[in-house]
Amino acid sequence: MAKLKITETVLRDAHQSLLATRMSLDEMRPILSTMDKIGFYSAECWGGATFDSCIRFLDECPWDRLRTIRKEMPNTKLQMLFRGQNMLGYRHYADDLVQYFVQKSIANGIDIIRIFDALNDIRNLETAINAAKKEQGHAQVAISYTLGEVFTHEYYMNYAKQVESAGADSICIKDMAALLTPYEAESLVRDIKSAVSIPVQLHTHYTSGLASMCIIKAVEAGVDAVDTAMSPLALGTSHAPTESIVATFKGTEYDTGIDLVALTEVRDFFMKLRKKYIDSGLLDPSMLATDANALIYQVPGGMLSNLLSQLKQAGKADQLDEVLKEVPRVRKDSGFPPLVTPTSQIVGTQAVFNVITGERYKTVTKEFKGLVKGEYGRTPVAIDPDFQKKILGDEQPITCRPADQLSPEFEAMKAEASEWIEQEEDILTYAMFPKVAPKYFEKRRDRKLGIDADHADKVNKVHPV
Ligand code: CO
Repeated sequence: MAKLKITETVLRDAHQSLLATRMSLDEMRPILSTMDKIGFYSAECWGGATFDSCIRFLDECPWDRLRTIRKEMPNTKLQMLFRGQNMLGYRHYADDLVQYFVQKSIANGIDIIRIFDALNDIRNLETAINAAKKEQGHAQVAISYTLGEVFTHEYYMNYAKQVESAGADSICIKDMAALLTPYEAESLVRDIKSAVSIPVQLHTHYTSGLASMCIIKAVEAGVDAVDTAMSPLALGTSHAPTESIVATFKGTEYDTGIDLVALTEVRDFFMKLRKKYIDSGLLDPSMLATDANALIYQVPGGMLSNLLSQLKQAGKADQLDEVLKEVPRVRKDSGFPPLVTPTSQIVGTQAVFNVITGERYKTVTKEFKGLVKGEYGRTPVAIDPDFQKKILGDEQPITCRPADQLSPEFEAMKAEASEWIEQEEDILTYAMFPKVAPKYFEKRRDRKLGIDADHADKVNKVHPV
């Protein structure tokens, strides 16, 4: 009997989508052992923006978080999101660091690494796939889903075949911008399933209100696993509610095997957290509303709010419409990149400059130049050489895999981070965020010294000298 597998995202993507990734380990910890007994295929709980948020906002060691979740959830596969050669940062890293990061992630408890590349350039995924296989991890490659004349089913089937040949254990259709519609989900899953023999998973956001319907059609078309989020942190820019999806397939050939009653305890727990987040203003209830603008503008929800805040800062919030019209133009000029981190920021910011300066490409950001140069990899469509020349001037485009131009950097990172290192993993934390990590490390050190000082104080009181 075909059984539908559920990946629960409440510990990662749900709060990344709804509350800027601010759920702390202390907040989630009390429910972890209960969640472990539910029978989820996997719990997405790490990677993406959680790592950044841990050290930047929560004063928390991301590696401790992973180890704690692993300890509390011994029976559930733990899953992370990994941006290929960008890892969890915003630039390309050398292969030795990518390999080390994958090794440490698996050593600390990750089972499934979901790897994606914003440009769907398979060359940017090979190092991470190979590293995951070497450590006996499950390498899942996520295909960044987007719309546009080049993004035909042939395009996705061809990429899926490349992914399978590269050694991936499964494929995920990553619909970060909620662009999938139910019948498109059905035919896309059917076509990808016919192109490859590895399992296929669906990750689709609820933003445009279609996720649950997409899931039903994808399941009927043979998708093997789907991502959902516990209802208190579902809907809006998050995912379809876990309970509803479980109920939908109960008693059918796709039964998830999950007990709806058992989910109520998990639901009650996150309902209290949700109330706390709404009261504190962290969760804006308007994020929970359906917004079909995603389908019209074809930009991810997070990108839309970023564009608006950039325009507000420039005092030009009234130009949002023009910027939204400019985005497809910039995207076309730069070889039709799917809009996902980091390309969503790169294309969005360039579109903002094009509009507010009143002249297209009068100001070109360093990142946009990098994208046009090939620093992020091969774009889905070749960039027009004249446009490339206009943006790059005398600089030559890169046509090889970008990381081929990077020398090993582990030793240098280790040396730079030496004064902070308390565990080997700290080298990776530093390498990801060299500006933020030292501040976090310093606080960590102060806290330890503080505790020691307290301790010394007590000792002195008991044994006065
Ligand atoms: Co997502």
